[in-house]
Amino acid sequence: MTAIREPRGATGPTAGAQTDRRITPGDSSSPWIPLAEEPRYQPPRAAIDPDSTKSWLRRAMPIVKAHKATFLTAMIMSAFGLILQVQIPQLLGQDALTHSIVLHRGMAGYVPLAHYVKLVFILAVVAGIAGFISRLFLMTTAYKIEFDLRNIIYEHLTRMSFPFYDRVQSGQLISRANSDIRSVQMYLTFAPNILVQCGIALVAFIYMLRINVPLACVAMSTMPFIYVLGVRMRKSMFPVSWLIQSRLADVATIVDENINGVRVVKSFAAEDQQLRSLAKAADRLQWAYIKDADLRAKFTPAVQNLSQLGLALVVLFGGYLVVHDRIQVGAILSFSFWIVMLQAPFQMLGMLIMMGQRAAASADRIYEILDEKPTIYDRPGAIDLIDCRGDVHFNDITFAYNEDGPNILDHFELRIRPGETVALVGRTGSGKSTVARVLPRFYDVDGGAMVIDGHDVRDLTLDSLRAQIGIVLDEPFLFSMSVRDNIAYGRPEADFADIVAAAQAAGADGFIRELADGYDTVVGERGYTLSGGQRQRIAIARTLLVNPPILVLDDATSAIDVQVELQIHDGLKRMMQGRTTLIIAHRLSTISLADRVLLMDEGRIVADGTHVELMATVPLYAEVLAQADDVEPGQIPELPHLGTGGTD
Ligand SMILES: Nc1ncnc2c1ncn2[C@@H]1O[C@H](COP(=O)(O)OP(=O)(O)O)[C@@H](O)[C@H]1O
Ligand SMILES: [Mg+2]
Repeated sequence: MTAIREPRGATGPTAGAQTDRRITPGDSSSPWIPLAEEPRYQPPRAAIDPDSTKSWLRRAMPIVKAHKATFLTAMIMSAFGLILQVQIPQLLGQDALTHSIVLHRGMAGYVPLAHYVKLVFILAVVAGIAGFISRLFLMTTAYKIEFDLRNIIYEHLTRMSFPFYDRVQSGQLISRANSDIRSVQMYLTFAPNILVQCGIALVAFIYMLRINVPLACVAMSTMPFIYVLGVRMRKSMFPVSWLIQSRLADVATIVDENINGVRVVKSFAAEDQQLRSLAKAADRLQWAYIKDADLRAKFTPAVQNLSQLGLALVVLFGGYLVVHDRIQVGAILSFSFWIVMLQAPFQMLGMLIMMGQRAAASADRIYEILDEKPTIYDRPGAIDLIDCRGDVHFNDITFAYNEDGPNILDHFELRIRPGETVALVGRTGSGKSTVARVLPRFYDVDGGAMVIDGHDVRDLTLDSLRAQIGIVLDEPFLFSMSVRDNIAYGRPEADFADIVAAAQAAGADGFIRELADGYDTVVGERGYTLSGGQRQRIAIARTLLVNPPILVLDDATSAIDVQVELQIHDGLKRMMQGRTTLIIAHRLSTISLADRVLLMDEGRIVADGTHVELMATVPLYAEVLAQADDVEPGQIPELPHLGTGGTD
C-alpha cells in the first residue's frame, strides 16, 4: 500500500517544464503532475485556419506553408528538371540531326555527333537527378501534410467531449477521415506539380513556335481534344470511383462487424446470413470495379491514339515543309518528342479539376469535424486542483443528456465527506451512472453545481480534476497490450512492485500469475481473452494504481463472483481507507463496504441511512436489493458483515 501511495512529485526528468505554472516556489506539498510528461509524437506544425468563411484551400494553406521549404524545393527542382528535358528534343532533332547527320565532316557548320551525345547525356543525368530530388521532396511533403492532417483531426477528436461521442459513430468518423485526408493531401501536393508541368508545356510550345508557327499549331491541334477527352474521362469515372470508395467501406464494415461480432454471429448460427450479406456487398463492389475498367478501356485508347494522330499530322505537314525547304528535317524529330511530352500535362489538367472537386468535398467533411468545438473545456483562468481532500458535494444538480430530453438528475443533492465511503443503490435507469459521470465533469450540469473541495468543477482544469478522480466503469475496456501495461495505463512509469500491489488489492494477482506469460500476457482485443470478472479486476487495479483521492466504482464488481468479491474486500477496504469513495452497487456484499447507503430513484436521493435502517423503513430499498444476485429468493437481505459495515 505504501508503495503505491508514494508522492507523485518530481517523477521523470521532463516533468519540470510542463509543471512550472503549477508549482508555487517553496511549496513543500506534492503538487499535481500531469500523467503523460513526454510528448509521444511530434505535434502538428500548423493548424487549419479557423475562419470558416474562407475557401477550403485558403483554410488549408497554413499546413502547406508549414512545409514550404520542402515543397518549394520540390517545385523548383521539378521545373528545373523539366526545362532541361525540353532541351533534349531541341538538341537531338533540331541541332544534332542538322549539324551532325545531314552535314558531313568538313562542311561548314558541321559538329561531331559525339558533342551532342555528350550534351544530351549530361542533360539527361542532371534532369534525372533534379527529377529524383523533386519527387523525393514532393512525396516527403505529401506525407508530412497527411501526417499533420491526421494528427490535427485525431488531436481534435481526443479533445472532443462525451456528448460528441454519444452522437457520432466513432468508427465511421475515423475511416471517413482517412480517405478524406488522402484526397486533400493529394490535391494540395500534386495540383501545384501538375501546374508546373503545364507551365513547362508552355515553354515547349514557345520552342515550337520559334521553329515554325504553322507546324507548332498543327502539333498542338490535338491537345484541346486530349484535354476535353481527359475531362470527360474523369467526369464519367469520378462517380464510379466514389462508388468504389463507398462500396469498399461497405465491405470493410461487414467484415469488421463479422470479426468483432463473431461471438454473436456464431451464437445465432448466422454465419450463412453474414456470408450472404458479404457476398452481396462484394458483388456491388465488383460491379463498380468492372464499370471503372469499362470506362478506362473506352477512353484510354482514344486519348493515346489522339496523340498518335498529332504525331502523324506533324510528320505529314512537317514533311511537306521540309520538302519545300521551310524547315530542317530535324524539326520533325524535335516536334514528335515534344508532342509526347505535352500529352501528359494536358491529360492531367482534366484530372486536376476532378481532384479539386473531390478534395473540396473531403475538406468540407474534415472541417465539419474540426469546426465542432468541445463543449467541455477549461475556462480562462481555471485553477488546478491540488492536494485534493476529497470533499464531494453534488449541490442540487439537475441534468439532462439532451436539451429536450427528460431530466435524468433532478435536484440531486449529496454531500460525501472526505474519506467517507458511500454506496449508491437504485433501480436500473434511475441515474446512478449519470451521477458518476458528472463528478469528473464528463458532462456539465444544467442546474446546481458539482463541487469538489469547495470549488465548482467548472473552475478547475479538466486534467487536474480528472487526475484526482479514479473511476471504474462496469464495462471495463482493456487495450490489447500486456496485462502489466494495462494496469500501468494511468501511470506508465510505475514500478513493477506497485503494479503487483495494485493487482493484489483488486484480487487480480492470483489469476494473472496463472496466465501463460503472467503479467506479460497480451490480452486479446478489448480484453476478450479474459472473463468479465477478470477484466473488471484488472480495471480496478488500473485505477487503484493511480491512487486517486476520489474513487468511483460504477457497478465495477458486477461480473466478479460473489465469493471472489468477498475475498478482495480486505484489499478494497484498505484501498478505500482515507479516500472518498462512491460505490454504485446492487449486491449486499458490495454495499457492506460502505459507511452509508443512499437510495436513488428518478434522479434524486430518496433515502439515506445505514443498510439496517433502510431495510426497516424503505420498501423500495428491499425491492431493489431483492434483485441482487447474492440474495436468495424470499430471503431477507442481510449484510454479510452485520452492523455498520464500515471501512474500519
Ligand atoms: N449518453 C446518454 N445519452 C442519453 N441518454 C442517456 C445516456 N446515458 C444514459 N442515458 C439515459 O439516462 C438514464 C439513466 O441512465 P444511467 O445513469 O445509466 O442509469 P443507471 O446507471 O442507474 O442504470 C437512462 O434512462 C438512460 O437511458
Ligand atoms: Mg449504470
